Amino acid sequence: MDAIRIYGGHCLDGQTSIQGSKNASLPILAATLMINGVCEIENCPEISDVYHMLRLLESLGCRVERDGPCVRVDAGGLAVCDMPSDSVGVMRSSVTLTGALLARTGSVCMEYPGGCVIGARPIDLHLNALRQMGVTVEERDGGFCARVSRLHGAVLKLPFVSVGTTENLILAAVTAEGETVIEPAAREPEIQALCDFLSLAGARITGSGTGRLVIRGVTALRPVRFRVPADRIVAGTYLCACMCAGGRVFLKDAPADQMESVLDCAARMGAGIVRESDGLLVTGREHGWSCGRIVTGCYPAFPTDLQSLFMAVTAASGQAGEIQETVFENRFRIVPELRRMGADITLRGSVAYVKGGCRLHGATVEAQELRGGAALVAASLAAEGAGTVTNRHYIDRGYEDIVQSLRELGADLEPA
Ligand code: EPZ
Repeated sequence: MDAIRIYGGHCLDGQTSIQGSKNASLPILAATLMINGVCEIENCPEISDVYHMLRLLESLGCRVERDGPCVRVDAGGLAVCDMPSDSVGVMRSSVTLTGALLARTGSVCMEYPGGCVIGARPIDLHLNALRQMGVTVEERDGGFCARVSRLHGAVLKLPFVSVGTTENLILAAVTAEGETVIEPAAREPEIQALCDFLSLAGARITGSGTGRLVIRGVTALRPVRFRVPADRIVAGTYLCACMCAGGRVFLKDAPADQMESVLDCAARMGAGIVRESDGLLVTGREHGWSCGRIVTGCYPAFPTDLQSLFMAVTAASGQAGEIQETVFENRFRIVPELRRMGADITLRGSVAYVKGGCRLHGATVEAQELRGGAALVAASLAAEGAGTVTNRHYIDRGYEDIVQSLRELGADLEPA
């Protein structure tokens, strides 16, 4: 039952509530390690990546309680020990535990983090910047050990923007001695949510949402209650599902102000977008228009996490389009799968050229990573006939019960 059977051709209709942000929840949960007391994180999505992060926190001696979307973490009894490799290895965001553990205990050993197959995803920027804050790093086969007696601030000039590196350095800096400057810092909304959480807990951070963060170390952070914002990538995913299948869907809590580049592109392709006070009303049309050229980049540019989804929409629309991926070196994994469904896509370097005039038909296709898997589900909603998306577990890393959510909107699909 690690697959989804999808019977295409059904329009979507109704409302779906957008879950809390995976990529905001994960660094915030890592940050609770630094706080002596009970933090309450609300609107935490019920997805496998969060499950693995909670397991890691428990393996470090934290007390973790989950009450639906509310998670309570008590890091008072932190006792550093090896983290279960099956959780560290399975997801990339385990690396943000590095900054938190160095800040709290001065020591961390872990395997190199895992993640998707979308690229090499090294952590050289993380480790080089931490060295400038006084950390000694010993790299060995498959992992590293980092130690520091007292983290000190530094002016950290990164060679390029990195979300995870920015997160790790923020966690290392908030209780370090002195001032830390991070530039260029990532500007993603998930970074801003992390800064909001830490500031509520007493950190002194300026520049959140800009490319330059200035952090003045404080002696300690205090336990807080914090609500995770809605997931802009999940909202974009359901927008694409509606554009593929047609119909009208209200995306409750969708953070439209964080989705400008995505909504501009969707409107250009013919989607109806109405901004309400508590969400987005989206309408998919039978025959959309071309996306023209989409180029992914760092926020606020078009997000790489929705690149596969918009490729699926383009292929389903029968229009031509060009999609350039500039963040990861191997993020066109769904192209062979879309070809199996009848798409005509040519790859030249970092650009995918989708040929117009094709009609998708259902096929058995393989999810190979989180967002590509969701894109194949969206494409299958538009396809003629029945199809199957295998390796559902990749999709469950980031989406709360995608089958149930789409069924409630009128799609015809089932676990297989
Ligand atoms: C975060 O990954 C997200 N993951 C990704 O979402 C997202 O696609 C990515 O940011 C870009 O927005 C989480 O937040 C858990 P990066 P991250 O560091 O931090 C290279 C999803 O689907 N790089 O900004 O790993 C790296 O290889 C996931 O939810 C180095 O070379 O992204 C990549 O090419 C997928 N050395 C580029 O930088 C380093 O030390 C950007 O990576 C660090 C990164």
